[in-house]
Amino acid sequence: MNIPKSISLAKKIDNYIENLCIPNNDILQFTLKNSKKNNLPPIHISPVIANFLSMQVSITKAKKVLEIGTLGGYSTLWLALALPLQGEIVTIEYNQEYASVAYENFRHAKKENMITLLVGDAKEILPTLSPSFDLIFIDANKEDYAIYFDHALRLAKKETLIICDNVIRNGGVLQKKPKKEYYKILADFNKKITTNLQIQTTILPITVPLPGRDYIDGISISRVL
Ligand code: DHB
Ligand code: MG
Repeated sequence: MNIPKSISLAKKIDNYIENLCIPNNDILQFTLKNSKKNNLPPIHISPVIANFLSMQVSITKAKKVLEIGTLGGYSTLWLALALPLQGEIVTIEYNQEYASVAYENFRHAKKENMITLLVGDAKEILPTLSPSFDLIFIDANKEDYAIYFDHALRLAKKETLIICDNVIRNGGVLQKKPKKEYYKILADFNKKITTNLQIQTTILPITVPLPGRDYIDGISISRVL
């Protein structure tokens, strides 16, 4: 992506919010260190956004959470820490190596009993799941978001929240002639979720404070009516 220098103010603001709002947590720090040690790409959600997700779990009193795209399990563990003891998370990861690291991280956090990690193509796994989930977080390959979202709707019930990462891509979705094919796919996805009368949707602009390439993205939040 083309990252303008001016965005570093957004990174400073993100750091500022992180310092104010995010307490140190050894379990979550271990997850990031272990993911880095195993060369996973550092594309997990930021602590500020993870804290936001965690608050959605608490506010909605969610008990069952579905996640599509586990990576090293950083977001999964934030979600798990917000759930009650009898809570459950199903998380789907395509990449076997990422899934192995995630499982190590779940064990280290002593949350492996609460988390069902399914490895494989979500397009094949999702049809095997049954309703219902209270909160669904989509953060996987962007090309298939529409398919994942349709499954999410099938697996939801009234008041389920469906949250999707990366729906703005540094403004890529605004481009008239999209520089990447998936920007157009995401722009169509945003139209799809904002015109569906079954749900109420908003999109929040967010800063992604990746090392050396921070940029503006967005997270969509849809509430099933
Ligand atoms: C990137 C960021 C993400 O949050 C993601 O899910 C996939 C890729 C990235 O910036 O490359
Ligand atoms: Mg993401």
